[in-house]
Amino acid sequence: MPRKLAAGNWKMNGLRANLTEIETLAERHADSQVDILICPPAPLIASCQGTLLEIGGQDCHAAVSGAHTGDISAQMLADVGATYVIIGHSERRADHGETDAIVAAKSEAAYATGLTAVICLGETLEEREAGTTLSVIDTQLAGSVPDTAAAHNTVIAYEPVWAIGTGKVPTLDQIAEVHAHIRSRLVARFSEGAKMRILYGGSVKGSNAPDIFGVPHVDGALVGGASLKADDFSEIITALENSK
Ligand code: 13P
Repeated sequence: MPRKLAAGNWKMNGLRANLTEIETLAERHADSQVDILICPPAPLIASCQGTLLEIGGQDCHAAVSGAHTGDISAQMLADVGATYVIIGHSERRADHGETDAIVAAKSEAAYATGLTAVICLGETLEEREAGTTLSVIDTQLAGSVPDTAAAHNTVIAYEPVWAIGTGKVPTLDQIAEVHAHIRSRLVARFSEGAKMRILYGGSVKGSNAPDIFGVPHVDGALVGGASLKADDFSEIITALENSK
């Protein structure tokens, strides 16, 4: 069984005053049996050094350095204490035109510097309604996840685009179907496919987390809005700690 992971993606939210939320979580879950990751905005990462939680970036460039104004390299994230980086979030795919090939290149940059890539995939509402969810997932998995992916360097996050920030959550059967499908593809392609963690993301809250964590092949969650406040995220972490 892979070690479970509760990951918080703060997106473009949070100032230095909000770092107390991370301190509170670290105190409350000091002896947790699950991994806890917070991905704050990049300017806050260095200030998180010393926390007992894992800290991650929300994106990195595929290159190590160079003329890429405004971008951040994986090495820079690692240099200020990050151990993970989210890659290919649907907001980056939509806002910045990130393709599967770009996501794969960024993931390789993360591996090269020792970061674990949290590679995101998920279908849009149109794709779900057209019945193409699993083929969309197959294309994204094939194109976004490098051949060198392994359990220590890769986490897959299944985030249906229509469930992000909407309060809409797939049924447990829908989550089960996609997670089992992702697992079968990982096992077929990678020697460590059975051990690679698969997170669910999209409107996870304390109230729905226990049910979601009961679904087979859900190894944790990638949480947006409900990760911003320690009290809210703590409920989700506790649900994961209590899940079998
Ligand atoms: P919400 O939890 O706010 O729906 O966001 C999910 C997400 O996009 C995490 O990366």
